[in-house]
Amino acid sequence: MIFEILTIFPGMFSSPLEESIVGKARDRGLIDVRVHNIRDFAADRHQMTDDRPFGGGEGMVMKPEPIVKALRAIKDCGPPARSILLTPQGRLFNQEIARELSRLPRLILICGRYEGVDERVAEYFTEDQISIGDYVLTGGELAAMVMVDAVARLLPGVLGNEGSAVADSFSEPVLEHPQYTRPQDFEGMGVPAVLLCGSHASIRRWRRGQALLRTRMRRPDLFARLSPTAEDIVLLESARRELEERV
Ligand code: ADE
Repeated sequence: MIFEILTIFPGMFSSPLEESIVGKARDRGLIDVRVHNIRDFAADRHQMTDDRPFGGGEGMVMKPEPIVKALRAIKDCGPPARSILLTPQGRLFNQEIARELSRLPRLILICGRYEGVDERVAEYFTEDQISIGDYVLTGGELAAMVMVDAVARLLPGVLGNEGSAVADSFSEPVLEHPQYTRPQDFEGMGVPAVLLCGSHASIRRWRRGQALLRTRMRRPDLFARLSPTAEDIVLLESARRELEERV
């Protein structure tokens, strides 16, 4: 899969997309991340990419010409692509959208800066607008990195253990159960005894109860979308009782 990133700060992408799983996926040719500097497509002597807003107001707006020129230059250099503008005004990114995008051969991610991007870019030159959350970043760059990471790990071969992307939180709208590793006693804090008992059935049931309880307590919005089975209700109740006994 190919990610084309349009930004005026290409340097921001070096380290985050060169390390860890995404970096390895690039080395192995599973993904290709191409970062393009919008400034290279600015026509004027000063390579201006922003200008004052029509109608007045604070801040600067990204000009349409350099972005559209960049889009036109890369559009035909590869398989069909979906152009996406990263903006707080976009639809809210989630696991379902990550899965939808992971099925496409190429994504073009346009990172806005300043007070925004000229609306004609959004209206006539992009197919999608995405926000990564209800908060305002200084630009779309971090949002683009979040999307590359979330989409890349869903591609075949990227994680190595194929099962784990499927079993993640949000494949089913349930948070993950708590995890523990050695030492068994860490500064006087132990590990739930069930995890040491060796019974896979008991462990599975305990984990499911914990996952359901967490979801109900921390993300009631997700919990409301669940259809718990009769067993789920029993496991949830026993997780709730266990918590009550601890406090
Ligand atoms: N640019 C600024 N804030 C953003 C957000 N929350 N999501 C995507 N792009 C952004």
